[in-house]
Amino acid sequence: MSTRKKLVVGNWKMHGSRPANAELLAGVLAGRPYGAEVAVCVPAVFLTETAATLAASDVRWGAQDVSAHEQGAYTGEVSAAMLAECGCRYAIVGHSERRAYHAEGDMLVAQKAQAALAKGVTPIVCVGETLAEREAGQTEAVVKRQLSAVIHQLTHCAAEMVVAYEPVWAIGTGRTATPEQAQAVHAVLRAQLQAATGHGERMRILYGGSVKADNATALFSQPDIDGGLIGGASLKAADFIAICRA
Ligand code: 13P
Repeated sequence: MSTRKKLVVGNWKMHGSRPANAELLAGVLAGRPYGAEVAVCVPAVFLTETAATLAASDVRWGAQDVSAHEQGAYTGEVSAAMLAECGCRYAIVGHSERRAYHAEGDMLVAQKAQAALAKGVTPIVCVGETLAEREAGQTEAVVKRQLSAVIHQLTHCAAEMVVAYEPVWAIGTGRTATPEQAQAVHAVLRAQLQAATGHGERMRILYGGSVKADNATALFSQPDIDGGLIGGASLKAADFIAICRA
């Protein structure tokens, strides 16, 4: 049995409002204790309030992106130091929505991961293939290429990241990877992490893509799936709580 503690992270994406967040976070707090570590990655403008709400609890918070730059004339960007100041434990980097809609490439994603880590914010590095790539038999090559860029950038600190496998075709579609499909990719990623860092066995690899209360247990019981990165189902306290308990 592995000693990796399960981690369940809600990615709110561009959802939420002050009243809705207050209700959701109250629900998440009321659902404790969880066997897993639990975190929410909220829109940057809500970080301060989220920090205030969660500070006295064991529920952690984080951001959905971070600038690759330390500081300077980068209008609209948020630095890792600012996230650290808001108490962020995590920052998602390289989410497929950022790769697709903001043209973020492997190199930029790797630099963002490094920027986060340099300020003590753990990057949750997302990798995943599109449907066309899967159907062309390129899944392994794609995720290995995406992860390799980050491993090379982080060098001796690579073991400090969290990895999230999110097949693009499973995000927001209701079409989840089967536990066996997800496990197969997680095993590939763990072998790559082990070869590169020597610490693959203690690193956490999350699955994301249409995780719901009714499929979370089957996914999370796979040997190399250490929890989940949850989109839609993290917006309703009851659904998110059920996944955190799975
Ligand atoms: P859904 O859970 O809505 O499919 O989103 C997954 C995701 O992108 C989490 O980062």
